[in-house]
Amino acid sequence: MIISNQRYELAQKAHKDHWEKRWKGNCERQERTGEYRRYQADLLKKYVNLNSGSKILDVGCGLGGLINYLDYGERYGLDTLMDYFLQDFDMAKEVKWIKGRGENLPFHDDFFDVIISTNFIDHIQDPPKVLAEMRRVVKKQGFLFLTVDTFPWWVKSVKMFLESIGKGNWGHPYTFTRNEVKKIIGGSGFKIIKIFNESDNLKGVIGDNKEKDAIPFKSKSKIDRALEIKKQRGYGGLFGEFLAVILLRIFQEGRFYHKRHTVFIAVK
Ligand SMILES: C[S@@+](CC[C@H](N)C(=O)[O-])C[C@H]1O[C@@H](n2cnc3c(N)ncnc32)[C@H](O)[C@@H]1O
Repeated sequence: MIISNQRYELAQKAHKDHWEKRWKGNCERQERTGEYRRYQADLLKKYVNLNSGSKILDVGCGLGGLINYLDYGERYGLDTLMDYFLQDFDMAKEVKWIKGRGENLPFHDDFFDVIISTNFIDHIQDPPKVLAEMRRVVKKQGFLFLTVDTFPWWVKSVKMFLESIGKGNWGHPYTFTRNEVKKIIGGSGFKIIKIFNESDNLKGVIGDNKEKDAIPFKSKSKIDRALEIKKQRGYGGLFGEFLAVILLRIFQEGRFYHKRHTVFIAVK
């Protein structure tokens, strides 16, 4: 089911507030985002054949989106709030910035080599329509690089209940499980070739990373903290290891109940 216009307006208001209050002038946040984007840029390069002639579109690019951290190709960034971004922020000159909606992309069919969509499809009004548009404008054999928060079904139920009593997270009109995202991407005609979680890089704490491409997003300080606690309290062996994992799962942005973010790589 698609959300109402009214609900979408609440989400858009939350996005604008976010950029205004949490991004503007916040150098520390911008720096941290830069570090994260560099991991994503490496990942993208690893899976997708890109060169100086590649056409790349970041849909719902926001400020500090991945498109800013690529140093090749013909780059486009599209967002509904683009007027505001261009007016109030310094936007990179090498990227073509476009005001528009993902539900109606202003490009002809088979135009791009890659579509980027990070932390976007749970913030919009009509995810299946946007995915269909992304598929339309990407070339045959072109790629989709999509990241989105995913949750277990029980967290989704709690969040839906909270929303129904007026305690929703207004910037996130949708809460997806991993399977729901798979269905939306698959349903649009993309073929998914890889899925993993960015937040699963626990290397050095619980042994080798199970999903070797995971990104250590914002995890370092939390891992350091958990290890410090483990050391201070003198927990050792298996028990200490167990405790470190529990601490990490709770501290690391609620990793226990929340996959921030799940990465889907798909091809047309
Ligand atoms: C959570 S931000 C993510 C920004 C960026 N992709 C990132 O990873 O940081 C979502 C962005 O999507 C934009 N947006 C929301 N609905 C949109 C739509 N239908 N079409 C294009 N952009 C949209 C919002 O204005 C906001 O800047």
